[in-house]
Amino acid sequence: MTAENLTSGRIQIAMGLQDVVVDESKICFIDGKLPKLLYYGYNILELAENCSYEEIVHLLLKGKLPTKAELAAISKELIEARGLPADVLDTIRKAPKSSIPMDVLRTAVSQLALTDPKPNDDTPEGRYRKAIRLTALFPEIVAADYRARRGLDAVKNNPRLGHAANFMWLLHGKEAGPFVVKTMDVALVLHAEHSFNASTFTARVIAATLSDMYSAVTGAIGALKGPLHGGANEGVIKTLLEIGDASKVEPWILEKTKDKGFRLMGFGHRVYKALDPRAVVLKKYSEKSGKEAGITKWFEMSVKIEEMMKTREKPLYPNVDFYSASTYYTMGLPPEIFTPIFAVSRVAGWCAHVIEQQSHNRLIRPDCAYTGAMDVPFVPIDKR
Ligand code: SDX
Repeated sequence: MTAENLTSGRIQIAMGLQDVVVDESKICFIDGKLPKLLYYGYNILELAENCSYEEIVHLLLKGKLPTKAELAAISKELIEARGLPADVLDTIRKAPKSSIPMDVLRTAVSQLALTDPKPNDDTPEGRYRKAIRLTALFPEIVAADYRARRGLDAVKNNPRLGHAANFMWLLHGKEAGPFVVKTMDVALVLHAEHSFNASTFTARVIAATLSDMYSAVTGAIGALKGPLHGGANEGVIKTLLEIGDASKVEPWILEKTKDKGFRLMGFGHRVYKALDPRAVVLKKYSEKSGKEAGITKWFEMSVKIEEMMKTREKPLYPNVDFYSASTYYTMGLPPEIFTPIFAVSRVAGWCAHVIEQQSHNRLIRPDCAYTGAMDVPFVPIDKR
C-alpha cells in the first residue's frame, strides 16, 4: 500500500487498530457504553460474586460453567499440574534482585516449554493440557520470585487448598484468612479475560502462525507488562504513594492534568466509555480490604480521584487497574507483584484465545501505508 492511497483518502489508517474487527469470538462480549462484560454470555458481576477462579477456568477452556463433578475434576487437574520444575525454580532463584518480576515471569514461562514432553502438541487434548499446566504454574512462579527477592525459599504447594488460597499460601507460607482468599479469588475472576486486548491479541497473532502455546503466552506476558496495559495497576499505587494523603489529591491532579500528554494510571479505556464493571466490584473490595486492615486512606484517596476525574469536562472513569491497586496494597501485597497477579489470572484467557484462534485459523498479517522513498538508485559502498 503506497502513500498516495493514503493521501487520496482511499484508505484510512486505524491507529492502534481502534474499532477494527479482525475476527469472530465466542469467549467474551464487551459493551463499552452500557457498560456490560460477559464471559461466554455470563455477566461478570454474577460470575465475580458466585464463581471460583477454577469455575472460570472451566468456562474459558470448555465454554461452559462446570457441574459439581466437572468442577471437582478440573480442580484436581490443576492441583495435579502443580509442581514447578527444579530448573525453572533455579532460574527464578538466580534472577538478579534488580530484575523486574514480569521479566522473571516471562523468562520462567518460556523455560517451561523446555520441560514439556510435547510442547508443540497442537491437538485439542495437547492444547488443553498445556493450558492447565500454565494456569497451575503461574502462581508458583510469581510466589517463588516474590520469596526469592526476600531471601526466602519457595514454599511447596498445599494440595488441600484451591487456586486462590494456594497462591496466598505460596506467597506467605501460611494459610490466608477467608476474606483475603475470597478477595484474591474475586480479583482472579475479574482479570481472567477481556476479549481482544493487547496481550490477548498478541497471543492470537503468535498462535495464528501455528506456533505453540508457550510462545503465545510468553509474548502475551511481554504485552501485559506495559504501563498502558496490565502495568497500570503498579502505576496506580505509585500515584497514591506519591500523592500521600487525601488532602493532596486535588492539587496533585490539577497540576498533573495541565499537561495534555499526561495519562493518569487506572483511568480511561479503549473500549469502556463509562465505568468498567470490574472497577465497580473492585471498588467494593478496596473498601472492604481497607476496613479489614484498618487502613482506609488508599480507598478514600481513590474515591476522591475518581470523583475529580468523573467531573472533568471530558469525564474519565476508572478501569480494572484503578481499585485493584488499593485492594492489593491493603491486603499487604507489594506493588511489584501487582502486574504478575494480573498475569496469574489472565493466563486462562490467553490460553482460551490460543485454542479458539487455532480452531479456525488464518495467519494474521495486516498491511501498512508505505511512506518511505521509492526506487532509490543503488550506490556501491566505495562511492557513498
Ligand atoms: C487494561 O483493552 C483492554 O481490555 C485492557 C484491559 C484488559 O482487561 O485487558 O482492560 C486492561 O489495560 C486497562 C487499561 C490500563 N491502562 C491505564 O490505566 C493507563 C492509562 N490509560 C490511558 O493510557 C488510556 O486510557 C488507554 C491506553 C487505556 C486507552 O488509550 P486510547 O484508547 O488510545 O486513548 P487515548 O490515549 O487516545 O486518549 C483518548 C482521550 C485523550 O484526550 P483527547 O486528546 O481526545 O482530548 O482520552 C484522554 C486523552 O487525553 N485520556 C486520558 C487518559 N486516558 C485517556 N487522559 C488522562 N489520563 C488518562 N488515563
